[in-house]
Amino acid sequence: MRRGSIASLVGIGVVAGGIAAAVALVFPWLPKPASREAGRIDFEFWFVVTICIVIFAIVAAAILYSVWRFRAAPDDDSDGPPIHGHTKLEIVWTLIPTILVTAIGVTSAIVLSQDDALGKNVLRINVTAQQFEWSFSYPDANNLTSATLMLPNDRSVQLRFTARDVIHSFWVPEFGQKQDVVPGLHPTLHITPDRVGTFPVICTELCGLGHATMRTTAVVMTPAAFDKWLKGQSKAVASPNPATAGKAVFTNNGCGACHTFAAAGTTAKIGPDLDKLAAYAQQAHQPLQAFVRTSIVSPNDYIQPGYPKGVMPQTFGTSLSKQQLDALVTYLVGGKK
Ligand code: CUA
Repeated sequence: MRRGSIASLVGIGVVAGGIAAAVALVFPWLPKPASREAGRIDFEFWFVVTICIVIFAIVAAAILYSVWRFRAAPDDDSDGPPIHGHTKLEIVWTLIPTILVTAIGVTSAIVLSQDDALGKNVLRINVTAQQFEWSFSYPDANNLTSATLMLPNDRSVQLRFTARDVIHSFWVPEFGQKQDVVPGLHPTLHITPDRVGTFPVICTELCGLGHATMRTTAVVMTPAAFDKWLKGQSKAVASPNPATAGKAVFTNNGCGACHTFAAAGTTAKIGPDLDKLAAYAQQAHQPLQAFVRTSIVSPNDYIQPGYPKGVMPQTFGTSLSKQQLDALVTYLVGGKK
């Protein structure tokens, strides 16, 4: 091979590889990781991408150089020279991919086993998925429930999933992992948050009419702020004051994600406007207190005209204690001003 040919091949390869590297680096393909597991997964991703870019550069150089250097003249109808096999070349192109694929397999296995390894002082959280909301309960804090996933920074967290109805899938892009939640199975997922912030929790399995609205947030706080939150919430839920206890039930169960309610400062419009409960009860010819209670525990008994049927979870009758339900009803009935 002449020196000029090698220079051309290298030149084309560098240009092709440079373009591919620019496409990989200039665009923000992945969110900035917020957990150690996501950091390791990102490392594996970039390890594979780097290999791909190098191979792409080599292949692009060989193809472009051949097309340019060995192209046939317009009137040349002759066949190329008969070539049969090239043992050295075949060994090389078998060996290199074998080494690369083995390297990817080994590094992936290491990343997976490190990601699954629980740290010390694990915080366990039970995650319930249902059409169309997430709820998180903290077994070490009297099963306190929350509609947002509150997490302490820098601590090993194990999520244990339950699906109440159909298949959902848990995804926080910044945590780098997805977990399908299949009814009857209780998979777990290990997360070690390493960045304070607020991140979206998304359902990534088409699960029905409200799938697109099945979102909440994960809030990573400093360990001190997390402990303060846990204590404050436990106190609010147990409060004898219905306004405090009712508001905690309202917030912890994510009611504000779908409903407008001035007293709680929420403005969502998916479900009926809770500031108009008295008018709705009149339309339904029911006493207000009973109407509100039934609408929570058995939402499909009466659907306010203009709102979709079957979107409100039908599980609050069992998931809320009598005390919580009483507090919520009192809060909703007394909340309109
Ligand atoms: Cu739950 Cu989509």
